[in-house]
Amino acid sequence: MTETVNIETKIPPKVVNILQIAGELAAKQGHNLYLVGGVVRDLILGTNISDFDLMVEGDAVQLAKRLAEVTQTELTIHARFKTARVTWTKWSFDLATARSETYDHPGALPRVQPGSLENDLFRRDFTINAMALELNPQRYLQLVDQYGGREDLEKGLVRVLHEKSFTDDATRIWRGIRYEQRLNFQIEKETLKLLQRDVPMLDTISGDRIRHELELVCNEECPHKIIGRAEELGVLAKVHPAFKDGGWLADKIGRARNLTLPNLKLPALYMSLLAYRLTGQECEDLISYLRPNRSTARVLRETHSLAGALGNLDKRNLPPSQVYKLLQGYSLPAIMANYLAGDSYVVNRHLYAFVTRYRFVKPSLTGNSLKKMGIEPGPEMKEMLERLKAAKLDRKVTSRKEEEELVRQWMEGTT
Ligand code: CTP
Repeated sequence: MTETVNIETKIPPKVVNILQIAGELAAKQGHNLYLVGGVVRDLILGTNISDFDLMVEGDAVQLAKRLAEVTQTELTIHARFKTARVTWTKWSFDLATARSETYDHPGALPRVQPGSLENDLFRRDFTINAMALELNPQRYLQLVDQYGGREDLEKGLVRVLHEKSFTDDATRIWRGIRYEQRLNFQIEKETLKLLQRDVPMLDTISGDRIRHELELVCNEECPHKIIGRAEELGVLAKVHPAFKDGGWLADKIGRARNLTLPNLKLPALYMSLLAYRLTGQECEDLISYLRPNRSTARVLRETHSLAGALGNLDKRNLPPSQVYKLLQGYSLPAIMANYLAGDSYVVNRHLYAFVTRYRFVKPSLTGNSLKKMGIEPGPEMKEMLERLKAAKLDRKVTSRKEEEELVRQWMEGTT
């Protein structure tokens, strides 16, 4: 029996309209057009969507050009990949030509040839991601479900299409865990056996691709659950053997999720927690393997080096200016990773005061005010601003007037 999926209640009318027109235009060009992959899964589940993957058994770029023209939307063409994107406000529609893929060897990027809907769906990772929705006017919104994805969605199962799926592409191990935890599903029994059999295949995947998977994990709602499950299945230890830590990382990431601090990017904090328990050498090894961008590499190194420097903060009555001096060069995720991971109450109190208060303290006097008082821009001015800030942090000055007084005393050399 063919099932039709209702999309009208899940996306705005203009978006429905764009999809409808796309189907009509494709039909006019003599081709079939489908919504494919994760978007079909999410439309059935009723979860939030903003990206639509469309697949045409014909020329995707030609179709996208017509679609952008007719619907007055923005067009971007990726000539190299023969794909195109149409965008309307926050909604994007990625058009690709149906393709089949073969892998020269495990872990290789796929060799791609034009294909039909059947082989395009067959190359996919899980049944719940291998469904399509017809956009052709005659079969509008009919579900194409050759592998039982609909039933697996119903039963809450993540299931591969064939037994070589993880061997073809071991990043699917991470993907499977991600879907399982995100959707509150279970990895199906046979699939779980295959996954465990193929964990060693993760060694065929480049560090860049593993980093990409970790970044996706860090951007999920429930990264702690994904990391916990990945550890349980021996997948996390494939990123670095030191990540066999009895749920430590998952626990800290779980706590990190609840933090809300201005300018704190949680994904960066999750990444920095990775580095906390590593030795200096292990941290460098991890960086060489994952090749993160410069700012993430910096955060990983800082997390590690700050952990070594925190002994200096383990004193109860440190003046705020000293806390500030020690922490000012460190990034927020590195500091918060140490806050979450450290076990000294005293150190944590200083760290918390720094991130919630000290880092925002500014003297009332600025460079301009100092200039007006006769101080030339340069190292001397910089030093004065720093001293003013320290004085304000330690509450030695509490008003602009007192700051001016202090500057005068410095200029006269009386302090
Ligand atoms: N896909 C696959 N194997 C991979 C990566 C992707 O089979 N290693 C297929 C899946 O069918 C997936 C589609 O390509 O649905 C699009 O990939 P992606 O955008 O990563 O997946 P979504 O399902 O859209 O994932 P998410 O909800 O996480 O954005």
